[in-house]
Amino acid sequence: MEEHLEEIMNREPLVVAPEGSLAAAAAAMQSRGVGAAVVVDGPSVAGILTERDLARAAAAGVRPADVPVSSWMTAAPLTMSPADDPTEAIDRMLGCHFRHIPVCDGERLVGIVSLRRLVRAASVGKVDPWTPGSSRGLENVVVGETRLSHIDGARGQLVLSGYDATVLARDRSFEDVWGLLHDGALPEGEAFARRVARLRAEPLAVDLLVALARRPGAPMAQLQAAIAGTGAAWTLRPWYEREPDELAEEALRIGAIVPALVAALWRLGRGLEPVPADASLGHAADYLRMLHGVSAGGAEVRALDRYLVLAAEHGMNASTFTARVIASTGADVAAAFAGAAGAFAGPLHGGAPSLVLDMLDEIEKPERAPDWLDEALRGKRRIMGFGHRVYRAEDPRAACLRETAVELGGDRIELARLVEEEALRRLRAAKPDRALYTNVEFWAAIVLERVGVPRELFTSTFAVARAAGWASHVIEQAHDNRLIRPTAVYRGPEVTPW
Ligand SMILES: CC(C)(COP(=O)(O)OP(=O)(O)OC[C@H]1O[C@@H](n2cnc3c(N)ncnc32)[C@H](O)[C@@H]1OP(=O)(O)O)[C@@H](O)C(=O)NCCC(=O)NCCS
Repeated sequence: MEEHLEEIMNREPLVVAPEGSLAAAAAAMQSRGVGAAVVVDGPSVAGILTERDLARAAAAGVRPADVPVSSWMTAAPLTMSPADDPTEAIDRMLGCHFRHIPVCDGERLVGIVSLRRLVRAASVGKVDPWTPGSSRGLENVVVGETRLSHIDGARGQLVLSGYDATVLARDRSFEDVWGLLHDGALPEGEAFARRVARLRAEPLAVDLLVALARRPGAPMAQLQAAIAGTGAAWTLRPWYEREPDELAEEALRIGAIVPALVAALWRLGRGLEPVPADASLGHAADYLRMLHGVSAGGAEVRALDRYLVLAAEHGMNASTFTARVIASTGADVAAAFAGAAGAFAGPLHGGAPSLVLDMLDEIEKPERAPDWLDEALRGKRRIMGFGHRVYRAEDPRAACLRETAVELGGDRIELARLVEEEALRRLRAAKPDRALYTNVEFWAAIVLERVGVPRELFTSTFAVARAAGWASHVIEQAHDNRLIRPTAVYRGPEVTPW
């Protein structure tokens, strides 16, 4: 593949004026046989008009002769420079779902590059198996197949084994959704929920938990160690050369015990006795009861249950991938879960929700939000609860949890709404080429606090839910296993002559 965009770009882009009519622009695009026109205002690029914009206008029933290009174009589009790397252009197009990028030398428009041209250039280029393409953070790299979930990042939809996750969250329990992931079909009766409850109530290795809880370790570090230790106490063995069904039972066992581990560690750390699980309750109700020693209210249990459904599974995220990598080595399921818990602890993955509350605490009052956010962005800090690697539309889980938070009420709602609005406005202005929206963690933080989960246990509670996804992925990996072993481009020094 060529090294620079200038070697691939079309040097004669179709150019239209913002005040020209949509009809004239569409006719010009058709006669030139191109899928996009660059909208220029004086010397600079004001926007881009694509076939997709024309289709949107047609669907809205506008008369193309009567409307100016400026009302349907995408303003201030992403542009690249002629010296940029074509692979970077492909990554950006795939990430943002664009098909065209104007190429500018400073302010001056010098060309346009289309996904079609880039792909053509890439496919006729020399293929060097020892130099894989750029894939920082494995973005857009397909690492396998799954029947468990699909994220439609452009539409903002999460599908769990054939069902819209937000519909499941409103209508079904966490155990039903775990059953769906486990068996590929929604459970008809209560059998799966009873099985999970029975496993949740298995005796804990209390001496191990006491030793961990006595130390001032972070809750996720304690949970990670407790999962690994529980696996050792249960003498779980590598699954390699055993039947995948044995592994399936062990994955359910480890997954189901997570709420009991989280609650026991938290209580022991405060000098309180663990509260044994009650197998007659659902996962959400029993988790809150094991934490606080008293039964939670119906609204709180329903809200937590909805959260658990929404957080149960989410494609090939960092912790799930970690679990699958470890499972692919044939190691025992506790090792896979402990590794996943380690990946989950980072603020860029599962560790953001408590930081959302820290941020709201720091902001304190609505009138302080604009200055606080401006300062954070000036200091290149990330605003917790916003942005996502895959979604380029609103995270559907955020929308569902916003609704749940508002239903639950409380004195955080007004501030949270305002911070959300102000943060989105600023992020969009700062990063016009990156579709930034609220992610699941922002409203999750508000819901979890309101239902009585201590702030330091937000990530652990996320893990209570995600254990369903980890268990299902580990089982799926084992049923069609191949050791996951990628490669890297060597950038170190040449071999030194001896
Ligand atoms: C989730 C997250 C890691 C996704 O990252 P990503 O896909 O790798 O996105 P990138 O890091 O490529 O970000 C693209 C640009 O948007 C900016 N951006 C993304 N999310 C941002 C945020 N929350 N606050 C400020 N800037 C943000 C980045 O700084 C980056 O700018 P740059 O190109 O100048 O470096 C990122 O959005 C983030 O850090 N969010 C805050 C933490 C969070 O809420 N995590 C929970 C995720 S569910």
